[in-house]
Amino acid sequence: MAASSKAYVCPSCGGLLDVVYDFQIKDPEEIKHIFLQRRLSNHPLDISGVWRYRELLPFCHDFSKIISIQEGNTPIYNAPRCAKYVGLKKLYLKHQGLNPTGSFKDNGMTAGVTQANLMNSKIVACASTGNTSASMAAYAARAGMKAVIFIPDQQITFSKLAQSLDYGALTLELEGNFDESMKLVQEITQESAVYLLNSINPFRLEGQKTIILEMLCQRDWKVPDRIVVPGGNLGNSASFGKALKELYNLDFIQKMPMVTIIQAQRANPLYKTLIHQSSQLLRVEARTLATAIKIGNPVSWKKAVRTMDWTQGWCDFVSEQEIADAKAMIGLDGIGCEPASATTVAGIRKLIKTREIDSDEDIVAVLTGNLLKDPDYTLSYHQGSLYEENPYSDELLEGKNKVQSTFANAPIKVKVSKEEILKTMGL
Ligand code: F0G
Repeated sequence: MAASSKAYVCPSCGGLLDVVYDFQIKDPEEIKHIFLQRRLSNHPLDISGVWRYRELLPFCHDFSKIISIQEGNTPIYNAPRCAKYVGLKKLYLKHQGLNPTGSFKDNGMTAGVTQANLMNSKIVACASTGNTSASMAAYAARAGMKAVIFIPDQQITFSKLAQSLDYGALTLELEGNFDESMKLVQEITQESAVYLLNSINPFRLEGQKTIILEMLCQRDWKVPDRIVVPGGNLGNSASFGKALKELYNLDFIQKMPMVTIIQAQRANPLYKTLIHQSSQLLRVEARTLATAIKIGNPVSWKKAVRTMDWTQGWCDFVSEQEIADAKAMIGLDGIGCEPASATTVAGIRKLIKTREIDSDEDIVAVLTGNLLKDPDYTLSYHQGSLYEENPYSDELLEGKNKVQSTFANAPIKVKVSKEEILKTMGL
C-alpha cells in the first residue's frame, strides 16, 4: 500500500489491504539479540514496546515522525488460580490492558497515528466501542491532531468515554450501534481529508503485531502451543496471524502456535460464519455486556479466517455467565481485566471441558483491557445485580436473566465499632 494512499480495500476482490514488505533480514538470531539489547537502552524508540521491534514493521523511515507514549512493555503473568479453574497445569496471561490508555489499542495506535503524521494528516477519526477511541484521542493529542470519534450512544463505559473527553477528542454519540457508526465513519473519511484509524487501517495492525513479538521475546522465543484472543472487530486476530506468518517465513520461529478466537455468545458472527461454512459473513445483531466486543459485522473477518488457516486455529463463543465468572477468577489471581478480555479464560475452560484443549498445553491468553475500564460491570457482579441484555432492545433484563455472582465479593457496611469490625474480620 502506497504511503500516500487512503484506500483500504482491494479494488478487485474487495478484501482489506495489507502492508507488505520486502524484508532485508538475513540473520534472525542477530535481530532477536538486538531486540533484547534494546531493553537496556533509554533511546525513545527502544523504550517503546512497539518501535523496539522496528525491523519487523519497516514502514516508517523518518523516525522523527513517530508518535509514541511508551506503549507495549506489558507483562506476561503466570495465573495459577485461573489455570486450576480452567483445568490447565499452567496458564499465562499477557496483559495488554497495562498499556498507557489501558488497552491493546495503543500498540496499534502508535503505528496508525505515526502513519497519519507521515501523511501530514491533521484530522483522524474512528468508530469505537470505547477503547480505540480512548487510544486514538490520546495519540492524536500527542501529535497535535484533531480527533473525531463516533461512538454508539449509551453503549460504551463511562471510563472510556471520560478518557476521550479528557484527551480533547470531538466526541459524537450516535443513536445507533457500533456497526452503524463504523459504516458512517468509513463513508465520511472516504469523502474527506479525515484519516480513518479503525483496524481496517493496515498500519494499525502493523503495530498490533508487536503483541506477538513482545510475547515471544519474553518467552525467549519459545513458541506456545496456543494463543487465545477475544474477537470483536477481529483486528487483533488478523494482526496476530500476520505477525506469526512473517516470523515463520523469516525463520524467527520454526512452528506456528494455534490462534483461538473467542467471541461472546450473542456477538458471534465469526463463529456462525465458520460453523455454516459460509463464504459471506453471517452478521448478527450483537448483544453482550462485554461492550468492547459488541460487534455483529466485524470488518477484519476475512483476515481472521486467514489467521485460523495459517495457524490451524479455530473460533468459539462463551456465555455471559462464563465471561463474568472467568473475569472474577482473573481478579482473584490479582490481575483483573475488563469483561471482553475474560472471554479468553472462559473459552479455554469451555474447550478443555469439550476436550478440544489438552490440560498440559502451553497457552498464552491475551487480556486486552484494564479492570478499571468497566467498574460498573465489576461492581454489579460483586453486588449480585448483573443482568443480561434484552436480546431485542438495549435495556437490561431486570429480574430476568440474572448473571449469577458465583465469586461475589460485596462490600460490607459496618458501624464505627472495633468489636463489630473484628467480628466481621473473623477475629
Ligand atoms: N478487547 C477489548 C478490550 C477491546 O476493546 C476490543 C475491541 C476487543 C477485545 C476486540 O478486539 O476488535 O481486534 O477483535 N474494541 C474495539 C474498540 C472494537 O472500538 O475499542 P478486535
